[in-house]
Amino acid sequence: MSKKGLRDIDVRGKRVLVRVDLNVPMGRETGAISDDTRLKAVLPTIRYLVEQGARVVLCSHLGRPGGKVVESMRMAPVAQALSALLGREVATATDCIGPEVEAAAAALNDGDVLLLENLRFHPEEERNDPEFARALARLGEVYIDDAFGTAHRAHASTVGVAQYLPAVAGLLLERELDALGGALESPARPLAALIGGAKISDKIGVLEHILARVDSLLIGGGMVSTFARALGHTVGSSAVEEDKIELAQDLMERARKRGVRLLLPEDVCVADGFHPEAASRVVPLSDIPDGWLIMDIGPKTIARFEEELITCRTVIWNGPMGVFEYPKFQEGTYAMARLLAGLDAATIIGGGSTAEAVAELGLADRMTHVSTGGGASLEFLEGKTLPGIAVLAEREG
Ligand code: 3PG
Repeated sequence: MSKKGLRDIDVRGKRVLVRVDLNVPMGRETGAISDDTRLKAVLPTIRYLVEQGARVVLCSHLGRPGGKVVESMRMAPVAQALSALLGREVATATDCIGPEVEAAAAALNDGDVLLLENLRFHPEEERNDPEFARALARLGEVYIDDAFGTAHRAHASTVGVAQYLPAVAGLLLERELDALGGALESPARPLAALIGGAKISDKIGVLEHILARVDSLLIGGGMVSTFARALGHTVGSSAVEEDKIELAQDLMERARKRGVRLLLPEDVCVADGFHPEAASRVVPLSDIPDGWLIMDIGPKTIARFEEELITCRTVIWNGPMGVFEYPKFQEGTYAMARLLAGLDAATIIGGGSTAEAVAELGLADRMTHVSTGGGASLEFLEGKTLPGIAVLAEREG
């Protein structure tokens, strides 16, 4: 990683403002945290800071409260869960800026941890308001960004604050950049990308950026229907992005010219409606019956993808192979997760629903890296410069 990191600076006895992404899913009814992956992911940074005797001021958003206080989006339950994982108290604050919070930060002892209230209770956070950023900066002497999941947002706590404090990367951010960046820039080859998801339009950026880097590109998910149309097939009732058919043709042509093996499903699992109990059957991609729609990749495709992936030394996976939220149509996605977990290769999993599928099967630990970023990992794989990363100091030399 070219960015200066936490271990490059001296934090002993210093108040350290750490932007983390503790935007965890909460059960609507229970209010309980339903997935604590993001909490566990920031523990190494917090533990390191505590061990170094820093005074840790954590800040994060939770949900999208729209610039006002929303009771169900307070940070207190997150602080409690974090505290249990960390094995030490994580104190909470009444707000994220202001004299009371400044006093709480000033009263911290070496090794203490304080979690500020939800940043997005203030509309100035998302507007990247300079005064708000300055008020946040008053809470620390150094700024550490460990919020990879929010690095694609140019907000006060991810970008603005770096104007006022020395800004370096936390350990999670470093891990994300090394894993995702390494897979794109200097992978062990052959390198394959397995890309799924509902629409081509959501993945254009990734497909374009990745095509120039991979040895094989395997495509699944809902966007297969648009590729199938580009091949001249009819696709029953599957949703097709008519205005992207040409793009699909162009991508296939470019792959051919570059010598990239582009694999589309040979067979698909189709249903007679988009619901969990719909009747289903497996058909060739070239023979989808009228009125039926693509819900998953089929068994021959799973076998063909497997044959391709076991020859690879690096695999990047972003996007499910089918509608895995419905048990009848989860086989393609789950089979890929199981396969990647057993590969003798670097396996890099994009965040969001791909990470969810891997977590559901309890396979996260068997992957080389599972990104904590949804939108952020997508933008990173598109080759975009993430604003939260751009503002961090470069490592010298
Ligand atoms: C995420 O969950 O992807 C991040 O926390 C960013 O949240 P946002 O999409 O509400 O900005």
